[in-house]
Amino acid sequence: MKFFVDTADIEAIAELNALGMVDGVTTNPSLIKKSGRNILEVTKEICDLVDGPVSAEVTATDAETMIAEGRKLLEIAENIAVKVPLTFDGLKACKVLSDGGAMVNVTLCFSGNQALLAAKAGATFISPFIGRLDDIHIDGMELIEDIRIIYDNYGYDTEILAASIRTPNHVLDCARVGADVMTAPPAVIKSLANHPLTDKGLATFLADIKDAGIKIL
Ligand code: E4P
Repeated sequence: MKFFVDTADIEAIAELNALGMVDGVTTNPSLIKKSGRNILEVTKEICDLVDGPVSAEVTATDAETMIAEGRKLLEIAENIAVKVPLTFDGLKACKVLSDGGAMVNVTLCFSGNQALLAAKAGATFISPFIGRLDDIHIDGMELIEDIRIIYDNYGYDTEILAASIRTPNHVLDCARVGADVMTAPPAVIKSLANHPLTDKGLATFLADIKDAGIKIL
């Protein structure tokens, strides 16, 4: 499973990228707002840092303007994936941009039928939002499972980019059910390294190192 980082925070991306843990980056208007940066400038910096796809989201709601914005975003770098919302206009923009050879990430997906439409419109990535479904007491992981079955049934090569990941269990379950990609905030990715038995075992070893005066350097 590929790991994308869901942030526009350059330092956080750089830290994980140095560990080889960044296969791509996703941003959205809320993350751009949080960064306090100009969208074109910060997206360019991210594209320079990371080899994989960098999703940058359009701001318009009509297809024509989405396409124009998408083309402007595509000028930033070769690894831009234009992110469009899963509306009928978004699907129109997806079709035009993907027919032109661009990577397109169709976002804000909350149903299998929406994912089916995105695949038919030529989406490179479909972004189902797990956490936001869980927030309203609908099992977000079931949506990932449904989309996996639908895409496998018909051989669509649109990649399932599991989004709105909030917990380590979300990541594990995505890997179990076969999401192609998961995108998570840096803190969630870093937290995957944590286990209480690792902490407990290390505390014991450190006590023994101190008691025995074990030294390597
Ligand atoms: C994905 O592309 C979105 O940017 C993101 O995963 C949304 O996550 P949230 O629901 O935690 O805001």
